[in-house]
Amino acid sequence: MSEIDLQDHVDLVIAEVARAEHSRDLDAIESAHKAKNSPVLAARRALGAVTDEEQRRELGRRIQGCSDAITAAIAARREELSAIEREASLASDALDLTEVLSSAGSFPSRRGHAHVVSKTRASLEDVFVAMGFTIKEGPEVETDWYNFEALNLPPGHPARDMYDTMYLDLGEAETVLMRTHTSPMQIHLLEEAVADQSLPLHVAIPGRCYRLDTPDARHLPVFHQVEGLVVDKGITFGDLAGVIETFTAAYFGPDIHSRLRPAYFPFTEPSAEFEITCTICRGEGCRTCSKTGWIELGGCGMIDPAVFDAVGIDATEWSGFAFGFGIDRCAQMRHSIADMRALIENDLRFSRQF
Ligand code: PHE
Repeated sequence: MSEIDLQDHVDLVIAEVARAEHSRDLDAIESAHKAKNSPVLAARRALGAVTDEEQRRELGRRIQGCSDAITAAIAARREELSAIEREASLASDALDLTEVLSSAGSFPSRRGHAHVVSKTRASLEDVFVAMGFTIKEGPEVETDWYNFEALNLPPGHPARDMYDTMYLDLGEAETVLMRTHTSPMQIHLLEEAVADQSLPLHVAIPGRCYRLDTPDARHLPVFHQVEGLVVDKGITFGDLAGVIETFTAAYFGPDIHSRLRPAYFPFTEPSAEFEITCTICRGEGCRTCSKTGWIELGGCGMIDPAVFDAVGIDATEWSGFAFGFGIDRCAQMRHSIADMRALIENDLRFSRQF
């Protein structure tokens, strides 16, 4: 190939390089350029036949110049093409997040919310705050003294059978336990009030309690109570009944009422169970209330003088009442939840109803 033809070849290749749309095309051009039968290599091979050394060297330089021109054109175009290809791949991989979020059907976003028991607890707190109570909390791990003994339930007292207790194994047997009710807070608050000379007291104490119960439609081994404690001068059983009725109407609605039935608790005297109109049948009588029209919500009574004694309060000067009832039971009655176990199963189809 003459020098002129070689220049034509270079021009052709460079034009081809410029037209390449894809780096694959450049690979093909490059391997043709490097192939043994390429015009440039053929020209180089032909150099051997040139006898004049000066001429041969000059020719060699030009052939090298042609080869370099082709290599440089390929490299430059390759750089351009890879930039373009990278852009294109980025554009095709990009996710349009706004499009996903706006097509609610394919990706619904739902807000979470508080559990129905937490909401119930908050509403109950609101009711008691409106009645002039202060909200307090207390420890879930208690000693036997606070949970039982100071509440007039000495070791071996038969009423302890009402509370299937979870004990903590901390060395000495059966002294530390998970509280079985919120009543130990009566003792803590009375002790505190004695120490600070801060009687009278009007407190509501919500919190978690524990009993070794097998879960069923109306019981959970971990449940919630609200304790009420009022200590003042001249407090009567009538005040207790009035507070319970006011709370019942405020939380459950004006057509739901309360009634008190004689009961026994070692830490109150007299004691009562309080019941409310069955919210399922509105008092007509149904399976849930065993046809009585009433549902038991908790216990209550006048503070037993033995409890005042245990903390050093003069029972001739002060009197008071206490009550305790289940928050989970309130949620169950208010929302007609047939089986309480649903509260802890974390089934979203259940949780989303409230
Ligand atoms: N603590 C009792 C219970 O859980 C309820 C109660 C509280 C009774 C306050 C009387 C006074 O069974």
